Amino acid sequence: MKILALGDVVGERTLPFLKEKLWSKRRELGADLVIANGENVCDIHGLSPRCAEVLLSAGVDFITSGNHIFDRRDAHDFLNDAPSVIRPCNYPAACPGEGSRIITSAEGWRVLVVNVAGSVFMEALGDPFRAVEFELDRHRRGYDLAVLDIHAEATSEKLALARYFDGRFAAIFGTHTHVQTADEQILPNGTGYITDVGMTGPTESILGVTPENVIEKIRTHMPRRFTVAEGPITANGVLFDIDPVTAKTKAVRRIIF
Ligand SMILES: [Fe+2]
Repeated sequence: MKILALGDVVGERTLPFLKEKLWSKRRELGADLVIANGENVCDIHGLSPRCAEVLLSAGVDFITSGNHIFDRRDAHDFLNDAPSVIRPCNYPAACPGEGSRIITSAEGWRVLVVNVAGSVFMEALGDPFRAVEFELDRHRRGYDLAVLDIHAEATSEKLALARYFDGRFAAIFGTHTHVQTADEQILPNGTGYITDVGMTGPTESILGVTPENVIEKIRTHMPRRFTVAEGPITANGVLFDIDPVTAKTKAVRRIIF
């Protein structure tokens, strides 16, 4: 079974790009499931129900997120009901939405998708190790294979989580930095891994944002409104080829289109 994970989708203007390219790309790759991080779709901050709907109709089956998921008020109720959208599992239980959900592939494989946020250089949330452990436990015997999106800043924390859970997830991928890393690998116990999948958004940018906005912000420390950059769009992803019987990854490769 092949799972394509797409890096953080930035800006509403990236949605028509995906609508045009993603269906043919998933056919070409033979991807059974496509998972995308969608926390930056609504012009960097958050995900509205409408943006989620467009993303899901563009060839994405499941949406993970991160620290921007609650930025939009209209996302709150929607997160409770959306079967294909999750938020990090280490937010307090009172927050809307779920930290993991199960999606069934066309062949009937039950895939548990878990989302967790990092604790290094990020908002102080619950311990990511314990939170992921809790999600695996909560769904025990309810899934065939599991996939984890670690939405985190520090590469060391992503690697630590991946090594800790090696063998218990078929695939683990990092998101949040918007820069793809070149360390795709199969860990010793069979988990396919990459530290960061990268970004699906405007190429001539700083992490999807208009460069001048970021340069000014860093130079002056004054509040600055960030706008999504103009220009061409590129998708960054990783394709995991998984044996659904053993729930281990056989091959992992980076995809850019
Ligand atoms: Fe993020």
